[in-house]
Amino acid sequence: MAGAVAPGGEGWSSRWAFILAAVGAAVGLGNIWRFPTLAGENGGGAFVLVYFGCVVLIGLPMVLSEVLIGRHGRSDAYHSVIKVAEDSGVSRKWGLFGGFGILGAGAILTFYSVVAGWVLYYVGVMGADFLGALFSGNPMAGALAAESPETIPTRMTDLFANNWLLLSMHVLFMGVTIWIVARGVTDGIEKAATILMPAFFVLLVMITIYGAFTGEFARALAFLFTPDFSKLSPSVINEALGQALFSMSVASAALITYGGYVAKETKLAPTAVMIGLTDTGVAILAGLMIFPIVFAVGLDAAAGPTLVFQSLPIAFHTMPAGSLVGLLFFVLIFFAALTSSISLLEAVTAWAKEKTGWSRPKSAWIAGGVIFLVGVACALSLNIWSDVRLLPFWPLFAEANIFDTIDGLVGKVLLPLTALLTSIFIGWKADRKLVEAETGLSGGMLGIYRFLIGWVAPIAVFLILLFGLFPQLL
Ligand code: PFF
Repeated sequence: MAGAVAPGGEGWSSRWAFILAAVGAAVGLGNIWRFPTLAGENGGGAFVLVYFGCVVLIGLPMVLSEVLIGRHGRSDAYHSVIKVAEDSGVSRKWGLFGGFGILGAGAILTFYSVVAGWVLYYVGVMGADFLGALFSGNPMAGALAAESPETIPTRMTDLFANNWLLLSMHVLFMGVTIWIVARGVTDGIEKAATILMPAFFVLLVMITIYGAFTGEFARALAFLFTPDFSKLSPSVINEALGQALFSMSVASAALITYGGYVAKETKLAPTAVMIGLTDTGVAILAGLMIFPIVFAVGLDAAAGPTLVFQSLPIAFHTMPAGSLVGLLFFVLIFFAALTSSISLLEAVTAWAKEKTGWSRPKSAWIAGGVIFLVGVACALSLNIWSDVRLLPFWPLFAEANIFDTIDGLVGKVLLPLTALLTSIFIGWKADRKLVEAETGLSGGMLGIYRFLIGWVAPIAVFLILLFGLFPQLL
């Protein structure tokens, strides 16, 4: 194993294995479920433009900074930050933000697994439908052939009303995630990424081409790329930056942890840029996959979070070979979600293993088990616990159920805070020589990186934190 580096001898077997795993971490529900939804709600092109600015100016330097912390620290996020702090002669207390990241990873996974469970359910629905169409002798029939456009969206409401079904899907998804992480970096995480990510890209390209031929591609292009600046408000910019951080998996310990398994000779700067830009490319391609289909059947592009789960199945209902494409579409989302959840669990598992000395499988099952249990509360908050409030005294969350409270706490507080501390740490506290050596950058590029991570990122992230917590200031 050329890349075996971290404690316990774990490491990626090649640079490509790392790239695929990190792209797998970044590409997830955020790209396919949230990005097109946000672009749809915020006027398309203008949002995409701001989003791209956030990626280049803040996201890419953050990805590089996190991977370099991991590679230098060679441990989980908490202990890696401590190592960089020690080698820079600053307080070990900086390790705290590594800890925040791990907490954020665990918190994200609690609700991420619930949404991934919905995806799994739709894989089942579409799979049954495809088989039905196949056996009826007409595999080209539209999906959900026996149903009407009015009843198809009730699949989601039915799911939400059925606790046992919701929980079974959640258990299944977490079970697969834990099983893969328990198998280790090379035999579990890397193997899953090297199989699932290429399959994901093939499906993404295939369905986009399908949409280009059968749907309204030109309208989707215009929608995603014509900027309407009247739609830009501080809250839209705030949303774009938050989404960029979430989508690139920044500030949630995953990239630091994955960085810990990267070989010394790997050049980090081009690798980080490749990971970040691939994530953005996938988000845009996901928009170009979804909107031609949405427009083809006259659905609302700004339908919000139900776009993928309620609107698209209606589209597949009427389109040629819709039952097959619908099935492939949800399989694609499932692959994307799984490689992301693996990275989230790995961030927590690596820490648990380092902290307790437990074996990897034991750490993965216990960490995954705790996350699963909190996830049960998220799932139940969609129905029988919908009235439960975690933070009734905090106006921002006074009306939010458990699911939305955890999602909001992570997105508005924990991730921005961790990102802020990460950028201050790397921009101002970490030893300059150490940072320079790990990034491999020099000259003008090093200057640009330093400026972005030391000034642009902390100021922008501070603003997200401020306006996220005090929306009345906007
Ligand atoms: N980036 C993932 C997505 O877009 O769905 C979510 C995610 C994964 C966030 C891993 C954070 C993380 F550490």
